[in-house]
Amino acid sequence: MDVVRSIQALNEQVKAYKQQGKAIGFVPTMGFLHDGHQRLMKKAREQNDIVIVSIFVNPLQFGPNEDYDRYPRDEERDKKVAESENVNLLFLPTVEDMYPNDSSINLQVVSRNEVLCGKRRPGHFDGVVTVLTKLFHLTQPTRCYFGLKDAQQVAVVDSLIHDFNFPIEIVPVSTVREADGLAKSSRNVYLSEQERAEAPSLYQSLEAGRKLVIDGERNPVTIVKGVERFIQSHTHGKIDYVELLSYPDLKPVDYIDGQVILAIAVFFEHARLIDNVIFQREGSKTDVTLGG
Ligand code: PAF
Repeated sequence: MDVVRSIQALNEQVKAYKQQGKAIGFVPTMGFLHDGHQRLMKKAREQNDIVIVSIFVNPLQFGPNEDYDRYPRDEERDKKVAESENVNLLFLPTVEDMYPNDSSINLQVVSRNEVLCGKRRPGHFDGVVTVLTKLFHLTQPTRCYFGLKDAQQVAVVDSLIHDFNFPIEIVPVSTVREADGLAKSSRNVYLSEQERAEAPSLYQSLEAGRKLVIDGERNPVTIVKGVERFIQSHTHGKIDYVELLSYPDLKPVDYIDGQVILAIAVFFEHARLIDNVIFQREGSKTDVTLGG
């Protein structure tokens, strides 16, 4: 595996892949790699000749009171994980290289970000699309891989690719969970023992909401209330949001009549956890449809 830190070295390597006509699968990450990332790498490995993984904790997507400084980092372990997944190139740029002082353009997301995390984390998705635009230009991937745990991010990147005509296929990959249902996340390390014991209730609350739909409920208000009650009675966490929206457009719905997302964010003492389920009008989970 090549470990590349400079943009110039990356450019040379990508140029060589392109000259050889290789299909490039790209997995952008912020490191502290876990099974969720590994699932993305495996999928990229299956579908492409070359797999590029980037690790960059992107300061632009963190708010002033968020965890940029204490975001977990472990480069040595990450290198081993990437190597074990047969990654060809690991890109580890510096903040100075990605954002030189003379940068004068940032991108702004104007749709699909006024709900869920986008609403609570102003500027977050502007930072995500700005860094991804740079990373897409640098890595020139055939396909890029994103986990559906951050389903709003998948919807926003779907728009980025469509609106800016990137010749890239976005591959959404299902959430990897612990045996007890908790979605894998780099932030799970912040949970206390008691919080970790309560955290599986988040996914259970989503499944309880989906069960209401399977049983015939179509009114989003009833489902959201049911999920809120479940979280409140099973955890000490503070609900940030429970929302049910169309997916991937992320518009409010009065009645469930197509693909929707039921998504939650809950604050524990040192961690804000998110999770979601995406399902069809009768509650079934099928392959997620995107489409710009
Ligand atoms: O999902 C993440 O880890 C980040 O938002 C991403 C896509 C790597 C952009 O910084």
